[in-house]
Amino acid sequence: MLQQFDERNKEIKVHVNGELLHRNNAKISVFDSVVQGGDAVWEGIRVYEQGIFLLDKHIDRLIDSAHALMFKNVPSREKIIKAITETLVANKMFDQTHIRLTLTRGEKITSGMDPRLNQQGCGLIVLAEWKPPVYDQSGIKIITSTIRRNAPSFLDSKMHHNNLLNNIQAKIQSNVAGVDAALMLDDRGFVSELNGTNIFMAKNGKILTPHANACLPGITRRLALDICAELSLSCKEVDLSLTEFYTADLVFCTGSMGELTPIVEIDGRTIKDDRSLLDKLNIAFHDKKKEFCKPIQS
Ligand SMILES: Cc1ncc(COP(=O)(O)O)c(C=O)c1O
Repeated sequence: MLQQFDERNKEIKVHVNGELLHRNNAKISVFDSVVQGGDAVWEGIRVYEQGIFLLDKHIDRLIDSAHALMFKNVPSREKIIKAITETLVANKMFDQTHIRLTLTRGEKITSGMDPRLNQQGCGLIVLAEWKPPVYDQSGIKIITSTIRRNAPSFLDSKMHHNNLLNNIQAKIQSNVAGVDAALMLDDRGFVSELNGTNIFMAKNGKILTPHANACLPGITRRLALDICAELSLSCKEVDLSLTEFYTADLVFCTGSMGELTPIVEIDGRTIKDDRSLLDKLNIAFHDKKKEFCKPIQS
């Protein structure tokens, strides 16, 4: 699956450090921390016709990630929401939109790793694009990557940071293998998540997902767990091996990019693809848009 250029994004405006700029002029300084060291945090957020999905949860995670990394002068929640709203209104984007929200440690007075060189506060980028969910709902194929997901002893995956090279290396491996995404194990060899989404499986009517030890604790993952509880479906966070995924009745991934997507092949093994549970979850997920979308207030 390779995303294509969407003509509707040709003239979009991007919010960069307080200014709304045409995409061709939307640029940041070479002294910005994200250029120097990937020193930034980010969120991917969906906009549906009902509004911005799970906005508060995404902003909580962005602010928590920035706090954990000791960013200074983090913009307030109100300021971030204002920038998001201005961007959506300027682009007349009220559905089928994906927002890439990035908060960088900001500009440095000279190149270098030391955060004390950052004396101007954070940088905020709101990039909203026309982008319906990216994965093919008939199911995706994946391979297992040799690159491990970061355990807390390396770079804690509970921060949603921009140091994405391990995920990018995994994605390259899936590209070379001609499949859609890469499955990443944790440092112990248990399944963790895909390069850009969380993973679930079902066996004998029970839904299982890896503990959030090395994976990003995804907001869609959390919602899927809550939906299972509401529907009284058996669902547990456990350590899971590759063999358990190969022999599952259903495997699917979750994330803001692709919502809930079935996985039909892992490392050349066909997955049974029993959709009955996923269909139930999908109906409840789409129903949640009414409850969890924040209307866009211009
Ligand atoms: C590595 C990784 N896992 C999972 C997810 C899904 O998280 P969410 O459901 O919060 O979009 C993302 C999304 O950015 C991600 O980058």
